[in-house]
Amino acid sequence: MKYQNILFNVEERIATITINRPNKLNALNRETIKELHRAFAKLEKDKKVLAIIITGSGDKAFVAGADISEFANFSGKEGKKLAAKGQELLFDFVENLSKPVIAAVNGFALGGGLELAMSCHFRVASDNAKMGLPEVSLGVIPGYGGTQRLPQLVGKGRAMEMIMTAGMIGAGQALDYGLVNHVVPQDELLGLCGKLASKISNNSPVAISYAIKAVNDCFNNSINGYVSEINAFGKCFGTDDFKEGTTAFMEKRKADFPGE
Ligand code: COA
Repeated sequence: MKYQNILFNVEERIATITINRPNKLNALNRETIKELHRAFAKLEKDKKVLAIIITGSGDKAFVAGADISEFANFSGKEGKKLAAKGQELLFDFVENLSKPVIAAVNGFALGGGLELAMSCHFRVASDNAKMGLPEVSLGVIPGYGGTQRLPQLVGKGRAMEMIMTAGMIGAGQALDYGLVNHVVPQDELLGLCGKLASKISNNSPVAISYAIKAVNDCFNNSINGYVSEINAFGKCFGTDDFKEGTTAFMEKRKADFPGE
């Protein structure tokens, strides 16, 4: 399967996807969104992969937004379709992926770029990163979930301010806001993400997938998250991972999870 706009490699059960349009600051055009969908779908099925890191190529940008040149002449109908399709193929897809996805925010994460980072399960930033939702400066609003996920992560008042001012915040402020979990010098970013992914990969993949769903259900108005947690908790007891995890504990050895 060929990719024109992304690179990906798998090392020690951790996949890294790199959005690779550095001349356009890795802006998300439709083709890139489709390729990312294909890559995430493939990695989700690959039993050898336990965690995924996504980053941007070059040292300037994670993703500088949706590709403005693609939608500048769109009608309302086309705009609506763009948002709906993008949310389905990429942003909701990543958020609900059964494997952990870490955003390594290595520079500008603006508009669709910040929306992509926010769809990931958590974020780590380099100290040069700048984040914002500048859409209202273009006469449009965030369309890839930004009006929903930003308030979830930073609270309503901060989200309103960021969206209405269309301004950017630096990595330090993003850390302060809880938008990113860690900030490190750029040359340490992928190393830290790799270490976190590796730590995650020592744990039960099945339990992690249930945990992702249960946490996501906290933000789904049509689902009672507590009930969802009880059901997922119960399901864990029937898994080989649970058998291995508890047996390893009793035998005072490190668990080797089958992932089933
Ligand atoms: N869509 C399409 N192209 C984009 C882009 C986007 N979101 N963001 C950057 N680019 C392109 C630029 O057009 C430029 O292409 P060119 O060299 O062919 O002219 C190239 O990437 C480099 O960007 P440039 O603006 O020259 O870099 P800069 O360092 O001066 O500024 C930014 C960096 C991020 C501040 C600026 O690119 C920017 O504001 N981008 C748009 C951000 C945005 O509004 N995103 C939300 C979209 S909904």
